[in-house]
Amino acid sequence: MKIRVENPKNSKKTMMLCGFVLEDSDKVLGLEKVDAKIISSLKQSIKDMGGMFGKIVFIPSEGKTSRMLLAGLGKKENFTNDTIRFVSGKIAQKARELKLREFSIIVPPSSIVEPISAVSQIVEGCKMSLYKFEKYKSKKENIIPDLTILVSKSEKISKMIKTSDIISDGVLFTKDIANLPPNDCTPTTLANVSKILSKKNRMKCSIISKKELEKKGFGGIVAVGQGSKNEPKLIILEHRMGSRNEKPIVLVGKAVTFDTGGISLKPGEKMDEMKFDKCGGCTVIGIMKAVSELKLPINIVGIIPSVENMPGGESYRPGDIIKLYSGKTAEILNTDAEGRIILSDALSFGEKQYSPKAIIDFATLTGACIIALGTNVAGIISNDEKLTQKIKESSKRTTEEIWELPLNNDYMDMIKSDVADMKNVGIGRAAGTITAAAFLRNAIKDTPWVHIDIAGVAWTQVATKDKPYNPKGATGFGVRLILDYLQNI
Ligand code: BES
Ligand code: ZN
Ligand code: ZN
Repeated sequence: MKIRVENPKNSKKTMMLCGFVLEDSDKVLGLEKVDAKIISSLKQSIKDMGGMFGKIVFIPSEGKTSRMLLAGLGKKENFTNDTIRFVSGKIAQKARELKLREFSIIVPPSSIVEPISAVSQIVEGCKMSLYKFEKYKSKKENIIPDLTILVSKSEKISKMIKTSDIISDGVLFTKDIANLPPNDCTPTTLANVSKILSKKNRMKCSIISKKELEKKGFGGIVAVGQGSKNEPKLIILEHRMGSRNEKPIVLVGKAVTFDTGGISLKPGEKMDEMKFDKCGGCTVIGIMKAVSELKLPINIVGIIPSVENMPGGESYRPGDIIKLYSGKTAEILNTDAEGRIILSDALSFGEKQYSPKAIIDFATLTGACIIALGTNVAGIISNDEKLTQKIKESSKRTTEEIWELPLNNDYMDMIKSDVADMKNVGIGRAAGTITAAAFLRNAIKDTPWVHIDIAGVAWTQVATKDKPYNPKGATGFGVRLILDYLQNI
Protein backbone atom coordinates (compact mmCIF):
# COMPACT_ATOMS: atom_id res chain seq x y z
CA MET A 1 0.00 0.00 0.00
CA LYS A 2 1.48 3.31 -1.09
CA ILE A 3 0.78 6.19 1.29
CA ARG A 4 0.96 9.81 0.19
CA VAL A 5 0.19 13.14 1.85
CA GLU A 6 -1.45 16.06 0.10
CA ASN A 7 -2.37 19.50 1.29
CA PRO A 8 -6.20 19.65 1.36
CA LYS A 9 -6.33 22.86 -0.70
CA ASN A 10 -4.40 21.65 -3.72
CA SER A 11 -5.25 17.96 -3.50
CA LYS A 12 -5.76 16.09 -6.75
CA LYS A 13 -8.93 14.41 -7.96
CA THR A 14 -9.48 11.13 -6.12
CA MET A 15 -11.52 7.99 -6.86
CA MET A 16 -13.12 8.24 -3.42
CA LEU A 17 -12.99 11.15 -1.00
CA CYS A 18 -13.55 9.92 2.56
CA GLY A 19 -14.37 12.15 5.50
CA PHE A 20 -15.36 11.74 9.13
CA VAL A 21 -18.71 12.87 10.56
CA LEU A 22 -19.55 13.37 14.25
CA GLU A 23 -22.85 12.03 15.58
CA ASP A 24 -25.84 14.33 14.84
CA SER A 25 -23.70 16.71 12.82
CA ASP A 26 -24.26 17.98 9.29
CA LYS A 27 -20.56 18.49 8.55
CA VAL A 28 -17.81 16.40 7.05
CA LEU A 29 -14.83 17.29 9.25
CA GLY A 30 -12.26 19.28 7.30
CA LEU A 31 -14.14 19.14 3.98
CA GLU A 32 -14.22 22.95 3.63
CA LYS A 33 -10.46 22.92 3.09
CA VAL A 34 -10.64 20.28 0.37
CA ASP A 35 -13.68 21.21 -1.69
CA ALA A 36 -15.90 23.96 -0.28
CA LYS A 37 -18.16 23.92 -3.33
CA ILE A 38 -19.71 20.53 -2.72
CA ILE A 39 -20.61 21.13 0.95
CA SER A 40 -24.12 22.51 0.51
CA SER A 41 -25.20 19.67 -1.77
CA LEU A 42 -24.09 17.10 0.82
CA LYS A 43 -25.83 18.55 3.89
CA GLN A 44 -28.96 16.41 3.70
CA SER A 45 -27.07 13.14 3.10
CA ILE A 46 -24.85 13.85 6.09
CA LYS A 47 -27.82 14.58 8.34
CA ASP A 48 -29.49 11.38 7.16
CA MET A 49 -26.49 9.17 7.93
CA GLY A 50 -26.33 10.47 11.50
CA GLY A 51 -22.57 10.03 12.15
CA MET A 52 -23.00 6.97 14.41
CA PHE A 53 -19.71 5.31 15.36
CA GLY A 54 -18.52 2.89 12.68
CA LYS A 55 -21.31 3.66 10.22
CA ILE A 56 -20.16 4.06 6.61
CA VAL A 57 -22.33 5.67 3.92
CA PHE A 58 -21.41 5.95 0.29
CA ILE A 59 -22.83 8.80 -1.84
CA PRO A 60 -22.25 10.03 -5.37
CA SER A 61 -20.63 13.41 -5.52
CA GLU A 62 -18.90 15.86 -7.85
CA GLY A 63 -15.98 18.31 -7.75
CA LYS A 64 -12.74 16.64 -6.68
CA THR A 65 -14.37 13.23 -6.54
CA SER A 66 -17.12 11.19 -8.11
CA ARG A 67 -17.60 9.21 -4.89
CA MET A 68 -17.80 10.46 -1.35
CA LEU A 69 -17.64 8.19 1.69
CA LEU A 70 -19.04 9.46 4.98
CA ALA A 71 -17.66 7.71 8.06
CA GLY A 72 -19.32 8.14 11.46
CA LEU A 73 -17.13 8.78 14.49
CA GLY A 74 -19.92 8.83 17.09
CA LYS A 75 -19.97 11.38 19.91
CA LYS A 76 -16.82 13.34 20.58
CA GLU A 77 -17.00 12.63 24.32
CA ASN A 78 -16.80 8.91 23.54
CA PHE A 79 -13.56 9.18 21.54
CA THR A 80 -10.74 6.81 22.45
CA ASN A 81 -7.27 6.44 20.99
CA ASP A 82 -8.80 3.78 18.74
CA THR A 83 -11.76 5.67 17.24
CA ILE A 84 -10.00 6.92 14.12
CA ARG A 85 -8.05 3.66 13.69
CA PHE A 86 -11.23 1.57 13.82
CA VAL A 87 -13.23 3.78 11.45
CA SER A 88 -10.30 4.18 9.03
CA GLY A 89 -10.16 0.41 8.82
CA LYS A 90 -13.81 0.34 7.77
CA ILE A 91 -13.12 2.97 5.11
CA ALA A 92 -10.15 1.04 3.72
CA GLN A 93 -12.17 -2.18 3.52
CA LYS A 94 -14.91 -0.33 1.63
CA ALA A 95 -12.35 0.99 -0.87
CA ARG A 96 -11.09 -2.55 -1.40
CA GLU A 97 -14.63 -3.91 -1.79
CA LEU A 98 -15.25 -1.31 -4.52
CA LYS A 99 -11.99 -2.43 -6.19
CA LEU A 100 -10.63 1.12 -6.22
CA ARG A 101 -6.99 1.78 -7.08
CA GLU A 102 -6.78 4.57 -4.52
CA PHE A 103 -8.78 6.58 -2.00
CA SER A 104 -8.27 9.72 0.11
CA ILE A 105 -9.04 10.39 3.77
CA ILE A 106 -9.49 13.91 5.14
CA VAL A 107 -7.81 14.41 8.54
CA PRO A 108 -10.20 16.14 10.98
CA PRO A 109 -9.18 19.60 12.31
CA SER A 110 -6.97 19.77 15.40
CA SER A 111 -9.92 20.96 17.51
CA ILE A 112 -11.40 17.45 17.13
CA VAL A 113 -8.32 15.24 17.27
CA GLU A 114 -4.56 15.80 17.39
CA PRO A 115 -3.46 15.52 13.71
CA ILE A 116 -0.32 13.50 14.57
CA SER A 117 -2.42 10.93 16.43
CA ALA A 118 -5.08 10.93 13.70
CA VAL A 119 -2.52 10.31 10.97
CA SER A 120 -0.92 7.41 12.85
CA GLN A 121 -4.31 5.83 13.49
CA ILE A 122 -5.32 6.25 9.83
CA VAL A 123 -2.15 4.53 8.61
CA GLU A 124 -2.40 1.69 11.13
CA GLY A 125 -6.14 1.24 10.67
CA CYS A 126 -5.95 1.09 6.87
CA LYS A 127 -2.87 -1.12 6.62
CA MET A 128 -3.92 -3.63 9.26
CA SER A 129 -7.51 -3.84 7.98
CA LEU A 130 -6.45 -4.69 4.44
CA TYR A 131 -4.41 -7.69 5.58
CA LYS A 132 -5.37 -11.14 4.31
CA PHE A 133 -3.46 -14.37 4.81
CA GLU A 134 -3.46 -15.76 1.27
CA LYS A 135 -0.24 -17.75 1.15
CA TYR A 136 -2.06 -21.05 0.66
CA LYS A 137 -4.84 -19.83 -1.67
CA SER A 138 -4.39 -20.85 -5.30
CA LYS A 139 -6.11 -17.65 -6.35
CA LYS A 140 -4.89 -14.47 -4.64
CA GLU A 141 -7.70 -11.97 -4.40
CA ASN A 142 -6.44 -9.27 -2.09
CA ILE A 143 -5.84 -6.13 -4.13
CA ILE A 144 -4.79 -3.31 -1.83
CA PRO A 145 -5.66 0.27 -2.84
CA ASP A 146 -3.27 3.18 -2.24
CA LEU A 147 -4.01 5.80 0.39
CA THR A 148 -3.76 9.59 0.23
CA ILE A 149 -3.96 11.46 3.52
CA LEU A 150 -5.28 15.00 3.21
CA VAL A 151 -3.63 17.16 5.87
CA SER A 152 -1.39 20.22 6.06
CA LYS A 153 2.05 18.90 5.20
CA SER A 154 4.81 19.18 7.80
CA GLU A 155 7.95 17.31 8.73
CA LYS A 156 6.30 15.96 11.86
CA ILE A 157 3.42 14.53 9.85
CA SER A 158 5.71 12.91 7.30
CA LYS A 159 7.79 11.39 10.07
CA MET A 160 4.71 10.02 11.81
CA ILE A 161 3.46 8.45 8.60
CA LYS A 162 6.78 6.74 8.06
CA THR A 163 6.89 5.51 11.67
CA SER A 164 3.32 4.20 11.58
CA ASP A 165 4.00 2.53 8.26
CA ILE A 166 6.97 0.64 9.76
CA ILE A 167 5.03 -0.27 12.92
CA SER A 168 2.11 -1.58 10.87
CA ASP A 169 4.51 -3.62 8.74
CA GLY A 170 5.84 -5.11 11.98
CA VAL A 171 2.30 -6.15 12.92
CA LEU A 172 1.66 -7.63 9.47
CA PHE A 173 4.94 -9.53 9.57
CA THR A 174 3.97 -11.01 12.94
CA LYS A 175 0.56 -12.00 11.53
CA ASP A 176 2.19 -13.56 8.47
CA ILE A 177 4.45 -15.90 10.46
CA ALA A 178 1.93 -16.56 13.23
CA ASN A 179 -0.68 -17.66 10.66
CA LEU A 180 1.64 -20.28 9.13
CA PRO A 181 0.34 -23.85 9.53
CA PRO A 182 2.34 -26.15 11.82
CA ASN A 183 3.42 -28.45 8.99
CA ASP A 184 5.11 -25.48 7.36
CA CYS A 185 6.40 -23.73 10.47
CA THR A 186 8.76 -25.63 12.74
CA PRO A 187 11.36 -24.16 15.10
CA THR A 188 13.80 -24.38 12.18
CA THR A 189 11.44 -22.32 10.01
CA LEU A 190 11.29 -19.57 12.64
CA ALA A 191 15.08 -19.68 12.93
CA ASN A 192 15.40 -19.28 9.16
CA VAL A 193 12.86 -16.45 9.06
CA SER A 194 14.88 -14.70 11.79
CA LYS A 195 18.18 -15.23 9.97
CA ILE A 196 16.82 -13.79 6.74
CA LEU A 197 15.32 -10.83 8.60
CA SER A 198 18.57 -10.16 10.44
CA LYS A 199 20.58 -10.06 7.20
CA LYS A 200 18.12 -7.67 5.58
CA ASN A 201 17.84 -5.40 8.61
CA ARG A 202 21.44 -5.54 9.86
CA MET A 203 20.81 -7.30 13.14
CA LYS A 204 22.88 -9.99 14.78
CA CYS A 205 21.17 -13.38 14.79
CA SER A 206 22.32 -16.46 16.69
CA ILE A 207 20.61 -19.83 16.63
CA ILE A 208 21.34 -22.33 19.38
CA SER A 209 20.61 -25.87 18.17
CA LYS A 210 19.66 -28.96 20.17
CA LYS A 211 23.21 -30.21 20.79
CA GLU A 212 24.35 -26.82 22.07
CA LEU A 213 21.20 -26.44 24.15
CA GLU A 214 22.00 -29.75 25.83
CA LYS A 215 25.62 -28.77 26.42
CA LYS A 216 24.77 -25.34 27.80
CA GLY A 217 22.19 -26.56 30.29
CA PHE A 218 18.89 -25.57 28.71
CA GLY A 219 17.18 -28.55 30.34
CA GLY A 220 13.68 -27.12 29.93
CA ILE A 221 13.80 -26.41 26.20
CA VAL A 222 15.46 -29.77 25.56
CA ALA A 223 12.88 -31.70 27.63
CA VAL A 224 9.85 -30.12 25.97
CA GLY A 225 11.40 -30.41 22.51
CA GLN A 226 12.54 -34.03 22.74
CA GLY A 227 9.19 -35.54 21.70
CA SER A 228 9.27 -34.04 18.23
CA LYS A 229 11.44 -34.86 15.24
CA ASN A 230 11.43 -31.12 14.58
CA GLU A 231 14.28 -30.13 16.88
CA PRO A 232 14.09 -27.20 19.30
CA LYS A 233 15.90 -23.93 18.61
CA LEU A 234 16.75 -20.91 20.70
CA ILE A 235 16.68 -17.85 18.47
CA ILE A 236 18.44 -14.63 19.47
CA LEU A 237 18.10 -11.36 17.56
CA GLU A 238 20.14 -8.32 18.59
CA HIS A 239 19.56 -4.71 17.63
CA ARG A 240 22.37 -2.52 18.95
CA MET A 241 22.02 1.14 18.14
CA GLY A 242 22.38 2.42 21.70
CA SER A 243 25.69 3.30 23.28
CA ARG A 244 28.19 0.50 23.71
CA ASN A 245 27.84 -0.03 27.44
CA GLU A 246 24.15 0.70 27.73
CA LYS A 247 22.24 -2.29 29.10
CA PRO A 248 19.69 -3.69 26.67
CA ILE A 249 15.99 -4.39 26.99
CA VAL A 250 15.37 -8.11 26.59
CA LEU A 251 12.18 -9.34 24.91
CA VAL A 252 11.28 -13.02 25.25
CA GLY A 253 8.52 -14.78 23.29
CA LYS A 254 7.07 -18.30 23.60
CA ALA A 255 7.16 -20.03 20.22
CA VAL A 256 5.61 -23.49 20.49
CA THR A 257 5.01 -24.15 16.80
CA PHE A 258 2.36 -26.71 17.74
CA ASP A 259 1.09 -27.62 21.19
CA THR A 260 -0.58 -31.03 21.31
CA GLY A 261 -0.14 -31.08 25.08
CA GLY A 262 2.42 -33.87 24.70
CA ILE A 263 1.82 -37.03 26.80
CA SER A 264 -0.82 -35.02 28.72
CA LEU A 265 -2.59 -34.83 25.36
CA LYS A 266 -5.10 -32.05 24.74
CA PRO A 267 -8.67 -32.93 23.69
CA GLY A 268 -9.27 -32.83 19.95
CA GLU A 269 -11.67 -29.92 19.89
CA LYS A 270 -9.98 -26.79 18.52
CA MET A 271 -6.56 -28.39 18.80
CA ASP A 272 -5.79 -26.86 15.39
CA GLU A 273 -5.72 -23.46 17.10
CA MET A 274 -2.56 -24.53 18.90
CA LYS A 275 -0.67 -23.54 15.75
CA PHE A 276 -1.03 -20.09 17.34
CA ASP A 277 0.98 -21.17 20.37
CA LYS A 278 3.98 -19.56 18.66
CA CYS A 279 2.41 -16.08 18.73
CA GLY A 280 4.57 -14.74 21.58
CA GLY A 281 7.72 -15.51 19.62
CA CYS A 282 6.23 -14.08 16.42
CA THR A 283 5.40 -10.88 18.31
CA VAL A 284 9.03 -10.54 19.37
CA ILE A 285 10.24 -11.13 15.78
CA GLY A 286 7.80 -8.47 14.47
CA ILE A 287 8.98 -5.99 17.11
CA MET A 288 12.64 -6.65 16.21
CA LYS A 289 11.85 -6.06 12.53
CA ALA A 290 10.26 -2.70 13.33
CA VAL A 291 12.92 -1.48 15.82
CA SER A 292 15.64 -2.14 13.28
CA GLU A 293 13.72 -0.26 10.57
CA LEU A 294 12.93 2.61 12.93
CA LYS A 295 16.64 2.62 13.85
CA LEU A 296 15.72 3.20 17.52
CA PRO A 297 18.84 4.46 19.35
CA ILE A 298 18.72 1.75 22.03
CA ASN A 299 19.94 -1.80 22.57
CA ILE A 300 17.31 -4.52 22.31
CA VAL A 301 17.68 -8.30 22.40
CA GLY A 302 14.90 -10.65 21.27
CA ILE A 303 15.03 -14.21 22.60
CA ILE A 304 12.68 -16.81 21.17
CA PRO A 305 12.65 -20.35 22.58
CA SER A 306 10.98 -22.52 19.96
CA VAL A 307 9.81 -26.14 20.24
CA GLU A 308 7.07 -28.44 19.04
CA ASN A 309 5.22 -30.16 21.91
CA MET A 310 4.44 -33.68 20.70
CA PRO A 311 3.59 -37.04 22.31
CA GLY A 312 5.81 -39.98 21.38
CA GLY A 313 8.32 -42.52 22.54
CA GLU A 314 10.93 -39.84 23.18
CA SER A 315 8.66 -37.32 24.89
CA TYR A 316 9.15 -35.99 28.38
CA ARG A 317 6.54 -37.31 30.79
CA PRO A 318 4.51 -36.46 33.87
CA GLY A 319 6.69 -37.46 36.82
CA ASP A 320 9.97 -36.43 35.18
CA ILE A 321 12.22 -34.09 37.12
CA ILE A 322 14.27 -31.78 34.93
CA LYS A 323 17.00 -29.22 35.57
CA LEU A 324 16.34 -25.75 34.19
CA TYR A 325 18.92 -23.22 32.92
CA SER A 326 18.56 -21.38 36.26
CA GLY A 327 19.94 -24.45 38.03
CA LYS A 328 16.60 -25.06 39.73
CA THR A 329 14.82 -28.40 39.35
CA ALA A 330 11.21 -28.80 38.22
CA GLU A 331 8.85 -31.71 38.66
CA ILE A 332 6.70 -32.18 35.57
CA LEU A 333 3.10 -32.92 36.50
CA ASN A 334 1.51 -31.96 33.19
CA THR A 335 3.38 -31.91 29.90
CA ASP A 336 0.81 -29.44 28.55
CA ALA A 337 2.20 -26.77 30.87
CA GLU A 338 5.21 -26.53 28.55
CA GLY A 339 5.33 -22.80 27.87
CA ARG A 340 6.55 -21.85 31.34
CA ILE A 341 9.34 -24.45 31.06
CA ILE A 342 10.86 -23.15 27.83
CA LEU A 343 10.32 -19.52 28.89
CA SER A 344 12.05 -20.17 32.20
CA ASP A 345 15.22 -21.21 30.36
CA ALA A 346 15.03 -18.21 28.03
CA LEU A 347 14.43 -15.73 30.87
CA SER A 348 17.35 -17.03 32.98
CA PHE A 349 19.61 -17.01 29.94
CA GLY A 350 18.50 -13.47 29.03
CA GLU A 351 19.24 -12.17 32.52
CA LYS A 352 22.59 -13.95 32.87
CA GLN A 353 23.90 -13.24 29.38
CA TYR A 354 22.77 -9.63 28.91
CA SER A 355 22.26 -8.09 32.41
CA PRO A 356 19.29 -6.22 30.93
CA LYS A 357 17.56 -3.06 32.20
CA ALA A 358 14.24 -4.85 31.86
CA ILE A 359 12.77 -8.09 30.56
CA ILE A 360 9.36 -8.31 28.89
CA ASP A 361 7.92 -11.66 27.86
CA PHE A 362 4.94 -12.58 25.67
CA ALA A 363 3.25 -15.95 25.76
CA THR A 364 0.03 -17.73 24.92
CA LEU A 365 0.60 -19.25 28.32
CA THR A 366 -2.67 -20.22 29.99
CA GLY A 367 -6.24 -21.08 29.09
CA ALA A 368 -6.99 -19.69 32.55
CA CYS A 369 -6.21 -16.19 31.24
CA ILE A 370 -9.13 -16.51 28.82
CA ILE A 371 -11.40 -17.52 31.73
CA ALA A 372 -10.20 -14.57 33.81
CA LEU A 373 -10.06 -11.75 31.25
CA GLY A 374 -11.70 -13.01 28.06
CA THR A 375 -10.40 -12.54 24.55
CA ASN A 376 -9.95 -8.77 24.31
CA VAL A 377 -7.63 -8.05 27.24
CA ALA A 378 -4.20 -9.54 27.94
CA GLY A 379 -3.03 -10.36 31.46
CA ILE A 380 0.12 -8.80 32.85
CA ILE A 381 2.11 -9.83 35.91
CA SER A 382 5.27 -8.14 37.08
CA ASN A 383 7.85 -7.74 39.82
CA ASP A 384 8.32 -4.02 39.15
CA GLU A 385 5.76 -1.24 39.57
CA LYS A 386 7.61 1.37 37.51
CA LEU A 387 7.97 -0.85 34.48
CA THR A 388 4.33 -1.94 34.79
CA GLN A 389 3.25 1.71 34.88
CA LYS A 390 5.17 2.44 31.67
CA ILE A 391 3.57 -0.51 29.87
CA LYS A 392 0.13 0.58 31.10
CA GLU A 393 0.73 4.06 29.68
CA SER A 394 1.66 2.56 26.32
CA SER A 395 -1.47 0.42 26.44
CA LYS A 396 -3.58 3.56 26.92
CA ARG A 397 -2.04 5.06 23.78
CA THR A 398 -2.18 2.01 21.53
CA THR A 399 -5.47 0.65 22.98
CA GLU A 400 -4.09 -2.89 23.15
CA GLU A 401 -5.73 -3.61 26.48
CA ILE A 402 -4.00 -5.20 29.45
CA TRP A 403 -4.99 -5.91 33.06
CA GLU A 404 -2.65 -6.59 35.94
CA LEU A 405 -2.92 -9.68 38.15
CA PRO A 406 -1.15 -9.99 41.52
CA LEU A 407 1.85 -12.18 42.30
CA ASN A 408 2.65 -12.47 46.01
CA ASN A 409 4.47 -15.17 47.98
CA ASP A 410 1.31 -17.17 48.62
CA TYR A 411 1.11 -17.78 44.87
CA MET A 412 4.82 -18.67 44.80
CA ASP A 413 4.08 -21.31 47.46
CA MET A 414 1.41 -22.87 45.24
CA ILE A 415 4.05 -24.31 42.88
CA LYS A 416 6.26 -25.87 45.58
CA SER A 417 7.00 -29.54 44.90
CA ASP A 418 7.55 -32.42 47.32
CA VAL A 419 10.44 -33.79 45.31
CA ALA A 420 11.94 -30.86 43.35
CA ASP A 421 12.41 -27.09 43.73
CA MET A 422 9.05 -26.50 42.05
CA LYS A 423 6.34 -28.20 40.02
CA ASN A 424 5.05 -27.05 36.66
CA VAL A 425 1.39 -26.72 37.72
CA GLY A 426 -0.34 -25.02 40.63
CA ILE A 427 -3.06 -26.41 42.92
CA GLY A 428 -5.95 -27.57 40.78
CA ARG A 429 -7.15 -24.83 38.49
CA ALA A 430 -6.91 -22.05 41.05
CA ALA A 431 -5.25 -18.88 39.74
CA GLY A 432 -3.84 -20.73 36.73
CA THR A 433 -2.46 -17.61 35.06
CA ILE A 434 -0.69 -16.48 38.21
CA THR A 435 0.83 -19.85 39.13
CA ALA A 436 2.26 -20.02 35.60
CA ALA A 437 3.80 -16.58 36.17
CA ALA A 438 5.11 -17.77 39.56
CA PHE A 439 7.07 -20.44 37.69
CA LEU A 440 8.55 -17.73 35.43
CA ARG A 441 9.34 -15.52 38.43
CA ASN A 442 11.64 -18.28 39.69
CA ALA A 443 13.77 -17.93 36.56
CA ILE A 444 14.94 -14.39 37.20
CA LYS A 445 16.82 -12.88 40.13
CA ASP A 446 16.11 -9.19 40.42
CA THR A 447 15.71 -7.70 36.93
CA PRO A 448 12.52 -5.64 36.40
CA TRP A 449 10.22 -7.96 34.49
CA VAL A 450 6.76 -7.89 32.97
CA HIS A 451 5.03 -11.04 31.75
CA ILE A 452 2.22 -10.61 29.20
CA ASP A 453 -0.17 -13.57 28.82
CA ILE A 454 -1.65 -13.22 25.32
CA ALA A 455 -3.61 -16.51 25.30
CA GLY A 456 -6.90 -14.68 24.75
CA VAL A 457 -5.81 -11.97 22.37
CA ALA A 458 -3.14 -13.42 20.06
CA TRP A 459 -5.66 -14.63 17.50
CA THR A 460 -9.37 -14.08 16.86
CA GLN A 461 -11.52 -16.49 18.86
CA VAL A 462 -15.32 -16.87 19.15
CA ALA A 463 -15.70 -14.15 21.79
CA THR A 464 -13.24 -11.73 20.16
CA LYS A 465 -14.69 -8.28 19.54
CA ASP A 466 -15.01 -7.66 15.84
CA LYS A 467 -12.57 -4.99 14.68
CA PRO A 468 -11.79 -4.22 11.03
CA TYR A 469 -8.06 -4.25 11.74
CA ASN A 470 -8.21 -7.72 13.30
CA PRO A 471 -9.36 -9.91 10.42
CA LYS A 472 -9.61 -13.66 11.18
CA GLY A 473 -6.42 -15.28 12.45
CA ALA A 474 -3.39 -13.92 14.27
CA THR A 475 -3.73 -10.34 15.55
CA GLY A 476 -0.12 -9.34 16.19
CA PHE A 477 -1.15 -8.20 19.67
CA GLY A 478 1.71 -6.59 21.57
CA VAL A 479 3.73 -5.33 18.63
CA ARG A 480 2.28 -1.80 18.71
CA LEU A 481 2.21 -1.85 22.52
CA ILE A 482 5.90 -2.58 23.01
CA LEU A 483 7.02 -0.38 20.11
CA ASP A 484 5.26 2.50 21.84
CA TYR A 485 7.06 1.63 25.08
CA LEU A 486 10.44 1.37 23.33
CA GLN A 487 9.96 4.66 21.49
CA ASN A 488 9.26 6.43 24.77
CA ILE A 489 12.21 5.16 26.81
N1 BES B 1 -0.78 -23.09 25.01
C1 BES B 1 -1.53 -23.47 26.13
C2 BES B 1 -2.40 -22.35 26.68
C3 BES B 1 -3.57 -21.94 25.82
C4 BES B 1 -4.71 -22.71 25.77
C5 BES B 1 -3.52 -20.77 25.11
C6 BES B 1 -5.79 -22.31 24.99
C7 BES B 1 -4.60 -20.36 24.35
C8 BES B 1 -5.72 -21.13 24.28
C9 BES B 1 -0.61 -23.92 27.29
O1 BES B 1 0.57 -24.54 26.89
C10 BES B 1 -1.39 -24.88 28.12
O2 BES B 1 -1.81 -25.86 27.60
N2 BES B 1 -1.59 -24.54 29.38
C11 BES B 1 -2.37 -25.37 30.25
C12 BES B 1 -1.73 -25.35 31.62
C13 BES B 1 -2.29 -26.34 32.57
C14 BES B 1 -1.99 -27.76 32.12
C15 BES B 1 -1.71 -26.11 33.95
C16 BES B 1 -3.79 -24.78 30.31
O3 BES B 1 -3.93 -23.57 30.27
O4 BES B 1 -4.72 -25.56 30.36
ZN1 ZN C 1 0.36 -26.62 26.56
ZN1 ZN D 1 1.31 -23.98 24.99
